[in-house]
Amino acid sequence: MQTPQQLYPLNLTVNGAEVSAQVPSTRRLVDFIREDLELTGTKVGCEVGFCGVCSVMLDGEPVAACHMLALQTDGREIQTIEGLSARPACAKLRDAFVDEGGFQCGFCTSGQLVMGTALLEKHDVCEMETADLALAMAGTSCRCTGYYGIHRALRKAAQ
Ligand code: FES
Ligand code: FES
Repeated sequence: MQTPQQLYPLNLTVNGAEVSAQVPSTRRLVDFIREDLELTGTKVGCEVGFCGVCSVMLDGEPVAACHMLALQTDGREIQTIEGLSARPACAKLRDAFVDEGGFQCGFCTSGQLVMGTALLEKHDVCEMETADLALAMAGTSCRCTGYYGIHRALRKAAQ
């Protein structure tokens, strides 16, 4: 007979709401977000911290949620794509993605918006060379767009 997994208390803020849960020590943050909280805007791709589609904001900084344990977020604040448009930079970027064709299949889009929001909030994107922009966004892969529409959207949102 299998021994039941030990559960640990987890208290954090998600998209502005306080959340309390009991999770096993091995529960990944991305699974906690998608399965326990049913916030499925955060996607799962490579699962090894490479593609960035699982990006969320943790205390205002983008992190790969596949590469963190849920318990590491105890007492901290998370914003997923569902809550991110409360940030003006994200709302502008989301609209610019639509205007500039920043997505095709859309699988990477929530990750792009998380990373792009963090970039817009800290850098003058209009002044960045394309190579620097590509490097700054390299943590989030896109298999469809060739990045042209994504870069146009970032520049438009920065204006
Ligand atoms: S699924 Fe997390 S980085 Fe790819
Ligand atoms: S829009 Fe399809 S992976 Fe980026």
